[in-house]
Amino acid sequence: MMNNILFICLGNICRSPLAEGFLRHHVELNRLGDQFQVDSAGTGNWHVGNPPDSRAVRAAAELGVDIAGLRARQIHTRDFDRFDHVIAMDQDNLRDLQYLGNEFTGDFKLDLLANMLEDPGFVDVPDPWYGNYHDFQAVAQQLDSACCALLEKLLQDGR
Ligand code: 4NP
Repeated sequence: MMNNILFICLGNICRSPLAEGFLRHHVELNRLGDQFQVDSAGTGNWHVGNPPDSRAVRAAAELGVDIAGLRARQIHTRDFDRFDHVIAMDQDNLRDLQYLGNEFTGDFKLDLLANMLEDPGFVDVPDPWYGNYHDFQAVAQQLDSACCALLEKLLQDGR
């Protein structure tokens, strides 16, 4: 079974590229690369074509994951056709996506990351953009464990 996962945040340079990198990393550790496609995008267009924020790149590298090659893009309505799961980092992203996907009747599942996990311990993944490097480290750790749990959940649900 193929799982197509799209992570969404506001700028696609901090949280969603981290989530993309960590989920792909856990997928590869489990040798499940042929069952998963992972991507990310932003609701906004300010950073289209840019690499992730250098603080996000560094925080991911500290946890063994290279996200330097990712480039930001903006979500497009056709993404609702292409992905099984469209996963928002926070409730603002979710509202924007609900508005965008409003007239879409495809099979995609739109959800908040926290709502996909059994016991997440958070509701929103906080936006670290205006924070300091420690905020990026905290978000990277949060997303690393969340993506590990998300992979388990997706595998369970797929059975
Ligand atoms: P992200 O963080 O949504 O996690 O990528 C942000 C990056 C840039 C901006 C806001 C949030 N911005 O306003 O440019």
